[in-house]
Amino acid sequence: MCPMNAAISLLAIALLAQAPGPVRTADKTGHVSNYDESKVTSYTLPDPLVMVNGTRVSDAKTWSSARRPEIIRFYEQEIFGAIPANTPSIAWDAPQIERGDTAVTRRIAGRIGAAPDGPRVNLKVVLPVNPKGAVPVILLMQFGGGGTAVVDPPVASEILARGWGYATVGYQEIQPDKADAFDQGVIGAAAAGKARTPESWGDVSAWAWGVSRVIDYLEKDPAIDARRIAVHGHSRLGKTALWASALDPRIAAVYASCPGEMGAALSRRDFGETVDDMAQRFPYWFNGNFQKWAGRWNDMPVYAHMLIALSAPRPVFVTGGTEDQWADPVGEFLAEVAAGPVYRLLGRKDLGATRLPPLDTAVLDGDLGWLYHTGPHAATPDDWKAFLRFLDKYFK
Ligand code: GCU
Repeated sequence: MCPMNAAISLLAIALLAQAPGPVRTADKTGHVSNYDESKVTSYTLPDPLVMVNGTRVSDAKTWSSARRPEIIRFYEQEIFGAIPANTPSIAWDAPQIERGDTAVTRRIAGRIGAAPDGPRVNLKVVLPVNPKGAVPVILLMQFGGGGTAVVDPPVASEILARGWGYATVGYQEIQPDKADAFDQGVIGAAAAGKARTPESWGDVSAWAWGVSRVIDYLEKDPAIDARRIAVHGHSRLGKTALWASALDPRIAAVYASCPGEMGAALSRRDFGETVDDMAQRFPYWFNGNFQKWAGRWNDMPVYAHMLIALSAPRPVFVTGGTEDQWADPVGEFLAEVAAGPVYRLLGRKDLGATRLPPLDTAVLDGDLGWLYHTGPHAATPDDWKAFLRFLDKYFK
């Protein structure tokens, strides 16, 4: 190694030793991850209540008929890709039922599309025994797949004790989470061999589609209260939960755990992961157009505060972790703050805080909820407990 290269790699090692997250250099732009709050330059976020043509939105009707669709369109055209109109349905088998002391578990196998060898989806629905009427359900979009690998939430017994149920589905059964897999999963089934365009949907939209198809199933079940279905996802699935909720008004509440960049973090802060990193490392989560925003994220007309606001007036709970600076927890908090005007316009409460609250202190009084935990990139049991308390306000 030449002395110069040796010096650079020593510097890289020193940086890595200090940095609270991965230090990555984006290939195309040369951007290096920032973890220094003093290097976050001042920025003005686009106002969620001002249309691209400059018109101010001052009533709920204009928000829902004009501004909200405008934001969704941008996310569809430039970021996640629209769910195509011709997506197949999921055919569900009869459930296999297991009766326990506190819960009734149903396992339902589904198949995407008409082909007999189409992608298989395994849904698990766990409902309390002796329910008092139709029960609320928390749907967890989970890592893993194949039914058996899907884990229960750490607060399963508390969910059941409240008289609620939960459902789990492995996201990779909807769409494999890897490059060069657009001929598989629902994207493959819907494409039916047709070539992709820069607008064609990526994985996050495919996973969001899966959330909606599971809700189709849940809402037909008379044991379940279709007006009280919450959706949870962690990290890439936190991004998915927010996008699914933007698209599907049947989602009554969202818990996006550590959703990070292109989920709840504000790209313009340039802290931790950036659009450049995402476009390079996970191009298949997005549509092709997303690539053009690498290095140009200061010009985007939408940021995470708007993705969150697309769920308004429905409640949204977001978490961050101190050991997860890659996801920019401070940016996630600030995005929730900046979504507040939309909640207020719709007659709901904003987060109720504009300064970062102390660590490990849940902010649950508004219709936006927040918890910054000490610890890793994870949905911790305490995060879950806070989410249940938040949800009590709506589901009890
Ligand atoms: C990577 C990615 C994040 C994502 C995370 C996850 O770290 O950079 O954006 O949230 O994976 O899904 O676990």
